[in-house]
Amino acid sequence: MIVGVPKEGFPGERRVALVPMVIPSLLKAGFEVVVESGAGAGAGYPDAEYLGKGGKILAERAEVFKAADVVLQVLCYGSNDVTGKADLPLLRPGQVLIGFLRPLGSVETVLGIAATGATAFSIELMPRTTRAQSMDALSSMATICGYKAVLLAADRLPRLFPMLTTAAGTITPARVLIIGAGVAGLFAIATARRLGAVASAYDMRPAAKEQVQSLGGRFVELPIEAKDAQDSRGYAQAQDESFYLRQRELLGRVVAESDVVITAAVIPGKKAPVLVTGDMVEKMAPGSVIVDLAAERGGNCELTRSNQVIVEHDVTIIGYINLASAVPYHASQMYARNVTAFLLHLTQDAKIEINTQDEITRETLVTQGGNVVNTRVREFFSLPAKVG
Ligand SMILES: NC(=O)c1ccc[n+]([C@@H]2O[C@H](COP(=O)([O-])OP(=O)(O)OC[C@H]3O[C@@H](n4cnc5c(N)ncnc54)[C@H](O)[C@@H]3O)[C@@H](O)[C@H]2O)c1
Repeated sequence: MIVGVPKEGFPGERRVALVPMVIPSLLKAGFEVVVESGAGAGAGYPDAEYLGKGGKILAERAEVFKAADVVLQVLCYGSNDVTGKADLPLLRPGQVLIGFLRPLGSVETVLGIAATGATAFSIELMPRTTRAQSMDALSSMATICGYKAVLLAADRLPRLFPMLTTAAGTITPARVLIIGAGVAGLFAIATARRLGAVASAYDMRPAAKEQVQSLGGRFVELPIEAKDAQDSRGYAQAQDESFYLRQRELLGRVVAESDVVITAAVIPGKKAPVLVTGDMVEKMAPGSVIVDLAAERGGNCELTRSNQVIVEHDVTIIGYINLASAVPYHASQMYARNVTAFLLHLTQDAKIEINTQDEITRETLVTQGGNVVNTRVREFFSLPAKVG
């Protein structure tokens, strides 16, 4: 079995799906590893390091797809909506594809992957279970985004983050508010605290309160309760517009009192709710910073522009997408470990065994034999239930 790693194609993407350090565990499991020349360069992993760990380097992208029984990517067609489509003719029936597919993004994309006959697994659909934790690349990338968001804000803010007592007097700490305390939000709290800021956070899932407090953050309680805030998988559930309206009213004061607002409130497969309006931005102090981690999904701030940094009402609004790629060395390392754990999970006696009795395999498998086989994806796009 040959594992192939093409160079990532999304513009500006610096990550790579496998890093040299995981190659020995794949060789031990009976795989060979081929890597497109230069695939790791942007993340700090030169070809020589892959060779040094027993990988092979191939010059052409098409050669990698041709040689590979299993193709590992970070952003596959779907999540790579710019250049990803060009990979479709390179895939073949039965070939395994593993990566971020954005399986609830567009039905055409998912059908396009299915039509290649490839057996595609979506890393986004990894169940949130203890058993799957080592394979949860979505959480790994969210961790990186939370960290980087705080650094971007600290860099832009015309104030210091920590409290300082100096001969020039006392400096008060920056006040950082995080809206949406999932994995990214929680890591943002931890990072802001490490830099000495006062961090507070709000989330509509009551379960988030304890997690925020355990990181030394203050939990912002709002007198509003979400209906069925959390689904069985631990994700937030969409609410109606009147709920979001009330949230915005209640969040206004807390936002106005913050020097930095980091928004990371998303619902799987849905546009992000607008929680910070233009009026709310206007009430923030000049120089304040908003980092909108939901920018890729439409943004939690009304003024966010996707992949841009703008200044409105003297407030900087950072709407970068694909932020994990801005810390490519460790993002690739974490991703590679997650995806290797997943690949080894699928492997028995040096062969890929697709056992749909297994929850991790069943939930992540999106296409097989020319069909979209994932129940959740079929339901999401109202595709007729699959027979057999
Ligand atoms: N293996 C595991 O058990 C595992 C793995 C990863 C995450 N988790 C847990 O799953 C939960 C979700 O984490 P995630 O990072 O995937 O979340 P996410 O990226 O899907 O969403 C981010 C956060 O936004 C919040 N949110 C959505 N709409 C909101 C609104 N209108 N107002 C306020 N907040 C809103 C959500 O509640 C969530 O906490 C967390 O509790 C996390 O700790 C568990």
